[in-house]
Amino acid sequence: MNSQLPKSDTVALAPTVFIIFGITGDLASRKLLPALLGLYSKKQLPKRFAIIGITRRTFTREEFRESIRSQMNVRPGQFKEEDVKHFLDHLSYEQGMFDDPVLYTNLAKSIKKIDDSWGQCSNKLFHLSVPPTLYEGILKNVADSSLNIPCADGTGWTRILIEKPFGNDTMTAQSLDKLLGKLFDEEQIFRIDHYLAKESLQNILAFRFANSMFEPLWHRQYIDKVHIKLFEKVTVEHRGQFYDGIGALKDVGQNHILAMLALVAMDEPKSFDVEAIRRERASALKKLVAISPRSLEKYVTRGQYDGYTKEPGVPADSVTETYFRIEAHIKSPRWKNVPFYLESGKAFDEARTEIDIYFKSSSCKPGNAKAFHGNDPKCIEKQNVLTFRIQPDEGIKVRFFVKTPGVSMNTEPRVLKFKYADTLAHPGTLSDYERLIHDAFVGDQSLFASTDEIMASWKFVTPILENWGDLPLKRYKKGVQEIE
Ligand code: BG6
Repeated sequence: MNSQLPKSDTVALAPTVFIIFGITGDLASRKLLPALLGLYSKKQLPKRFAIIGITRRTFTREEFRESIRSQMNVRPGQFKEEDVKHFLDHLSYEQGMFDDPVLYTNLAKSIKKIDDSWGQCSNKLFHLSVPPTLYEGILKNVADSSLNIPCADGTGWTRILIEKPFGNDTMTAQSLDKLLGKLFDEEQIFRIDHYLAKESLQNILAFRFANSMFEPLWHRQYIDKVHIKLFEKVTVEHRGQFYDGIGALKDVGQNHILAMLALVAMDEPKSFDVEAIRRERASALKKLVAISPRSLEKYVTRGQYDGYTKEPGVPADSVTETYFRIEAHIKSPRWKNVPFYLESGKAFDEARTEIDIYFKSSSCKPGNAKAFHGNDPKCIEKQNVLTFRIQPDEGIKVRFFVKTPGVSMNTEPRVLKFKYADTLAHPGTLSDYERLIHDAFVGDQSLFASTDEIMASWKFVTPILENWGDLPLKRYKKGVQEIE
């Protein structure tokens, strides 16, 4: 599900140069370039814009265009051929090694040439589409060549988009933040968690705070447990080498899953401005209870799908997890004793991201429905469940009970369903990455993670990772539906 165009007059945006480090990589192909092309075709890029890709490879201009055209993950017929052709006209590249200062001198010269041809100082938006280990070197070189500084006449901004994982643990995230803080002001830093830009996730807040019939129930008195799932059908595919150094918990747990938790658990912000929303999201994350090494086995499960160690780029003896499940708790009067099950895995039977909120039922003894799969299945069957389907088939479902027709007073479950696609689909809408790039252009940071959120997430995840090796690694078959 896509995001509606915000009201800002994006077409009137000032001339901008978008600089992509790692333009031939996986992320650029899958998300970034298709999103830029999407924005271009919806006329949501500045009239004057240029994309400079940084790559270690050498091409002729024509080879470069062709290589970008074929690497972009777009469906045949998704864009008009004319749009693709004109979009590619805006692309050029700079060849070099990321740690070589000469690359940055050449980049500065190319940007200056563009500015001169436009007769004005342009905005500069940098995107690091490279493994996090390269961030520090790139950032330092950007600063040494003064590329982080807006033009002397005060026109044109410089902003930086940073991908997750932001750091590798609490300490490395702090040092990355410190480095960024030295080179850029907070308003210039856009920390990406593309889940925050998914329309179906933004809807959680609207749903909670625009419907007075649900928010009063958003409390331990009525909610029994929350289950957040991000199941993927895909394996690690050709990303084995990158993925193996990260694992599921850092790949989607520390960011996407905790972003979903924050939206479910946060209190109502005083207003819907950037700072108020980010503050409440961070505040929910800060209340997560750290899991001690002693309780690790009780609260955390990790797993690996069969065949993972045979994936290209993955060592044969790898113990990297492709699955995890955590029982998390939040220390607050609202959520005391309500387990939040956070679960994600690759190579499942189908792609499914959803959040289930289970309500207490008078038919269940207190505590009976707490266990992950329920120690009394009959109890779980009697619970009202509110489901946010994040993807695919975005929507909302409520399970409720009705009387079975007849003489008895038996009840049976029924479902009230709402599917976005049925009523809210809109041709001018934006995908998650389109929305993020758009918001970076207009300088709106609401859908980007703040330092506080990132630090709070790492504070919860780091102690688990420190003792990761103590946990048994469950093997599971590709195509599973669920893991016991
Ligand atoms: C990325 C992870 O951040 O999110 C991938 O690195 C994962 O491993 C992806 O597949 C899931 O995002 P989406 O938008 O496809 O659900």
